[in-house]
Amino acid sequence: MKKYLVIGNPIEHSLSPRLHNFWIKTNNLDAIYEKKKLNYSEIDNLILDVKKKKIHGINVTVPFKKTVIPYLDQLSFESENTQSVNTIYLDNDKLVGHNTDIEGFERSIKDLKLDITNKKILILGAGGVVPSIIFALYKMKVIEIIVSNRTKSKADSLKDLFKNLTIVDWGTVPEVDIIINATSIGLKKNDKINLDISKIGPNKFFYDVIYKPNQTNFLKEGQKLGNRTENGKLMFIYQALASFKVWHGVEPKINEELIKILD
Ligand code: ATR
Repeated sequence: MKKYLVIGNPIEHSLSPRLHNFWIKTNNLDAIYEKKKLNYSEIDNLILDVKKKKIHGINVTVPFKKTVIPYLDQLSFESENTQSVNTIYLDNDKLVGHNTDIEGFERSIKDLKLDITNKKILILGAGGVVPSIIFALYKMKVIEIIVSNRTKSKADSLKDLFKNLTIVDWGTVPEVDIIINATSIGLKKNDKINLDISKIGPNKFFYDVIYKPNQTNFLKEGQKLGNRTENGKLMFIYQALASFKVWHGVEPKINEELIKILD
């Protein structure tokens, strides 16, 4: 039986095992997918287990998406350009790091049939998933990306990867077409972002990477102001789907039953 893992810290709430084990079952594969809470000192040994084929693939989440890079032999084009790895696999005895968050975000936007060419975007937050969102947005030919993060230096560092970014102070809300919440504010039901987003709407697009709860206060407010909104559920599903494809060579199906697993 092949073994797959998602590593992170914290990891208790990860829904990746539910998705992957559902697809493993529906595709009749002899495999299992588990979650593992990790400390930095344990990365070394765990990665070696992939080389020894004791583990056949790893998903990486917060806070290790960049930390794992020095342990790998090769990075995909996407991982190289975002300095972010969420999928590890062995290819000809070489450990490869790949980034499927980009595909996850891109497909979730494409499903909405939303034309984002030449649009101006504001991203709130500068954490682990933000380089992937930026990469996907430039790929989809947006005209300008503005990043605002409470800790400005973290947003500034993103310019090492993406030199055309505009960085603004936390509290500044520029006029944009699309606003994306990539902070962790909203994970708790009563969380509220301390920004005045009222001048953005109406008829704009609000996207929240968070999908649990289904509708954060950020999305509620966006909707109340007359905007289209979307949560990060499909992004999460599509990044998992892309990892599954890399490991098992099959494109798994998305159906109602699968979507319900995440509720
Ligand atoms: P990490 O930063 O470890 O990658 P993350 O969950 O990917 O973790 O990112 C959390 C994001 O939410 C960060 O951008 C964080 O801002 P800081 O860089 O200033 O920490 C942001 N965030 C979390 N709580 C916040 C709050 N109360 N107000 C504003 N931003 C917050």
